[in-house]
Amino acid sequence: MKKIRKVVFPVAGLGTRFLPATKASPKEMLPVVDKPLIQYAVEEAIAAGMEQMIFVTGRTKNSIMDHFDKAYELEAELAAKQKTEMLAMIQSILPSHVSCVYIRQSEALGLGHAVLCALPAVENEPFAVILADDLIDGGERSCLAQMVEQYERYSSSILGVEQVGEDETDKYGIVDSVPLEKNIHRIDGIVEKPSPADAPSTLAVVGRYILTPEIFDMLKKTERGAGGEIQLTDAIAMLLKKKQILAYEFSGNRYDCGSKLGYLQATVEYALKHKELNHSFRDYLAGLELRSGE
Ligand code: G1P
Repeated sequence: MKKIRKVVFPVAGLGTRFLPATKASPKEMLPVVDKPLIQYAVEEAIAAGMEQMIFVTGRTKNSIMDHFDKAYELEAELAAKQKTEMLAMIQSILPSHVSCVYIRQSEALGLGHAVLCALPAVENEPFAVILADDLIDGGERSCLAQMVEQYERYSSSILGVEQVGEDETDKYGIVDSVPLEKNIHRIDGIVEKPSPADAPSTLAVVGRYILTPEIFDMLKKTERGAGGEIQLTDAIAMLLKKKQILAYEFSGNRYDCGSKLGYLQATVEYALKHKELNHSFRDYLAGLELRSGE
C-alpha cells in the first residue's frame, strides 16, 4: 500500500456567492478570524502527513501563491522592528519538508476537471482532495488525518461524509450506502445534487476525499453532468463499479464557508476559541444578547 503524500486543492472556482468580495481575490483567501481558509486546509493536510500541496488554480489566484511563498520585504521589516513572534509565525506557514505545485485550470469546467488537471503532479499514487470552503474542525485529530487512518486499514478510496437535512440534498453529492462498522459505510451509489425527492439518503459528501489513481481513467471518460460541469461525483460513480469505495462519517464540526451563514458561524466559533480574542469576544456577544433582550 502506497502512503498518501499528495493533496489536491481545487481553487479555481469563481466564488460567486461571495461577490463582490471575490471579484479580484479568491474565496479561499477569505479569512476566518486571522487566517485564510486555504491556510486552514493546508494545515489540516500537513497534520495528516501530506508533503506535496497541489493547487489547481485559475484567474485571480496569485494571492494564494504569494501566501505560501517567502515574503522577503515583510520578513525584513518584521525583523528590523524586532517583531520576532510575528516573524516566526509568518515563516512557519509552510514547514520546510512541504512543497507546493501550482497547476492552472484554464477553463472552469468543474471539480472533476480540476482534479484531472492535477494528474501530471499526482501521477500513479493515491492522493487526497480538500475543498477549502468546507472548513472542518476535527478537534484532536484533523478530518483528513482520521480518513488517512481509515485508508491505512482498508486501502480503498474514502469520501468524508455527514448527515444533512432532507431539504439540503441538492447542495451535495449524496451516497447510497450500507454500514460496515461504526462511522464506515460501503458506497453502492452516488449522485450529484439530487432533489430531496430523488435523493437515495441524506448522507452527504463533504469536501474531503482520498482517491486511488484509477479515478483519473474515469475522469477522462466523464462527460458534463449536473450544472454542465465535469463532476467528480460522476467519476466516482463509475469507479464504484470496479472498486470498493467507502464513506467515513468524520468526528468534528464542518462549516460551509462557501455560504455566508456558514462563514459567519465559523468566524464566531473560531473567534470564541482564539487565544487573543476569546474573552473579549465572549463579553461582546454577551453584551449583544443583553441589548437584544431589552
Ligand atoms: C462539491 C461536490 C459535491 C460535494 C460538495 C461538498 O460541490 O461537487 O459533491 O458534496 O462539494 O462541499 P460544490 O459545493 O463545489 O458545488
